[in-house]
Amino acid sequence: MKSANQLLRTLAACAALIGLAACGSKPPSVPQETAAPVTPTQEARVERADFGTMKDGTAIDLYTLTNTKGVIAKIITYGGIVTELHTPDRAGKMADIVLGFNTLEGYLGAHPYFGAIIGRVGNRIAKGRFTLNGTTYKLAVNDGANHLHGGLKGFDKVVWKGEIVKADDGAALKLTYLSPDGEEGYPGNLTATVVYTLTNQNELRIDYTATTDKATPVNLTNHAYFNLAGEGTGSILGHELMIAADRFTPVDSGLIPTGRLDPVAGGPMDFTKPMAIGSRIDKVPLAPPGGYDHNYVLTSGGGALALAARVYEPSSGRVLEVHTTEPGLQFYTGNFLDGTIKGKSGTAYAKHAAFCLETQHFPDSVNQPTFPSTILEPGQTYKTTTVYRFLAQ
Ligand code: GLA
Repeated sequence: MKSANQLLRTLAACAALIGLAACGSKPPSVPQETAAPVTPTQEARVERADFGTMKDGTAIDLYTLTNTKGVIAKIITYGGIVTELHTPDRAGKMADIVLGFNTLEGYLGAHPYFGAIIGRVGNRIAKGRFTLNGTTYKLAVNDGANHLHGGLKGFDKVVWKGEIVKADDGAALKLTYLSPDGEEGYPGNLTATVVYTLTNQNELRIDYTATTDKATPVNLTNHAYFNLAGEGTGSILGHELMIAADRFTPVDSGLIPTGRLDPVAGGPMDFTKPMAIGSRIDKVPLAPPGGYDHNYVLTSGGGALALAARVYEPSSGRVLEVHTTEPGLQFYTGNFLDGTIKGKSGTAYAKHAAFCLETQHFPDSVNQPTFPSTILEPGQTYKTTTVYRFLAQ
């Protein structure tokens, strides 16, 4: 269809060239609005490559998932880390929107869980201790007095088995890890699987499952650090965020929930309507060293896949939607990034260089009887799904 502009130009051209037979059949060429370097492919596909070797000789694989629209997700078997995620902006221009490194060495060094699978229990467990069926378990303590993100060697630091699997509508990779009884202090042999599917609708879908032979807490998530303007481009404080939650779990100075569910209404925690992330960040209650690092109680309550959050980046037009079956969402603004880590494009990652939206059960649930339970019993299957959807407007 011709646009109004094109028609006007055509008419003007016709008026000037009356008598020429070609007039009206074809508008004069007008500059195209979009340069679209997106490379659509015939079929979604997964390719495997080497990504280096661990000190003990274990080879690490890199899987590249490409969908029919040219969106690319790269995932390694070390930590199940999403190392790259290339999505289009409003003009179709691609950028890598997650923080990370180019080499395995980067991921083997100190870093704050960039892109990794988090488990056996994501977020904090107070004093690394809990009692289950009359037995008190003592976990590895790695965050002051508390246990964080699975301990000293959580699921972010283990090697997963990778397997390319068939997806109805996209490209998929299945990762499997057997966490032995007693690992980081947790009871039971836990078999965890994580299926990453890059759908042809520009979604990265993550399906988590787990089974155990002894009752154990489980709370799996992914710790991608997003910057929708592109990795290494600066602060995310201008991104606009909506979180579908009217309550959050307030925390003490060690970021352990008090047990209350407080309303967000009217205050700096309120993202029920889209707001710039930085608009009230200096008024956020207790979250050292400053910024958001809080669990939101999703209005959906968990269970069915529902919209949890939507983020819009004004300069690129990129939009990220998070859908999940989980009841909670940790909103974290990269407060501990302090410029000491240089990322894949050579840029130092400063405070607020990215945000995380970690779908989860609430922190310290195993010690909080009023929170939804994280306990998986033998014979049950843990099953959760989170979908990151990439749009542009
Ligand atoms: C989570 C925690 C934060 C921080 C980061 C990693 O989001 O809630 O406090 O530990 O992981 O640095």
